[in-house]
Amino acid sequence: MLSQNQTKSKKRVRDHGEVFTAECEVKAMCDLVKDETERIDSRFLEPACGTGNFLEEILTRKLAVVKKLHKSNPYDYERYAVLAVTSIYGVEILADNAQECRERLFALWNKEYTAVCKKSANDETREAVKYILSKNILCGNALTLMCVDENQKDTDTPIIFPEWSLLGTKLKRRDFRLDVMLKAGDKPNRGQSSMFEEDIYKYLSVNPVTGELMAEPICEYPPVHYRRVQENG
Ligand SMILES: C[S@@+](CC[C@H](N)C(=O)[O-])C[C@H]1O[C@@H](n2cnc3c(N)ncnc32)[C@H](O)[C@@H]1O
Repeated sequence: MLSQNQTKSKKRVRDHGEVFTAECEVKAMCDLVKDETERIDSRFLEPACGTGNFLEEILTRKLAVVKKLHKSNPYDYERYAVLAVTSIYGVEILADNAQECRERLFALWNKEYTAVCKKSANDETREAVKYILSKNILCGNALTLMCVDENQKDTDTPIIFPEWSLLGTKLKRRDFRLDVMLKAGDKPNRGQSSMFEEDIYKYLSVNPVTGELMAEPICEYPPVHYRRVQENG
């Protein structure tokens, strides 16, 4: 049976299938990939993420590991807590849900960060985390793989996610199209590709060893200090 906080309105259920997953089910499903949820840098993408029930649970688990390993050193805690956020991705078609998801993940992150880092906690890092969430939680259509407008209509912009890698105190960012990433690992099939897929092939190369397609970034940025990721905006 559904509880009250699993739906917002009958119209949203009818129009968008918006029924949120109950907490006990979220935890049980995350337990199926427990080791991955406890790896600070393992990447999770939730298409149709709603307000972030799964992403919140995953971030909670990752931050618990960061705390266990680094709580005695606020600088290490800060760096790895930022890394944990960089690994969480979501797509959601309703703009209000996407925004609620970002705010929820930030509130969780900031509560832990402030509690652990105390006086060393700073607004520069908080702003960097808000920026990362603005790039990682996108308002889009997970079926067409395009960004959507406020009426849930596809725009001309494909869904693009940054891949973040921590190099010491610097974050490296490479942007990838989601439709391109989903082709990676396939065997090349240029003869039968549609016009739409031709566009994709610009960002795919063939692995000389396996013969499989590999995603290429559409943009690479020079590494910057993790507190100033916005500089590459
Ligand atoms: C069943 S709810 C699940 C939400 C969340 N994953 C959870 O478990 O609580 C489905 C969500 O997908 C969104 N949605 C529906 N169609 C979508 C699409 N084509 N692309 C992205 N999101 C979509 C809805 O707005 C809704 O928030």
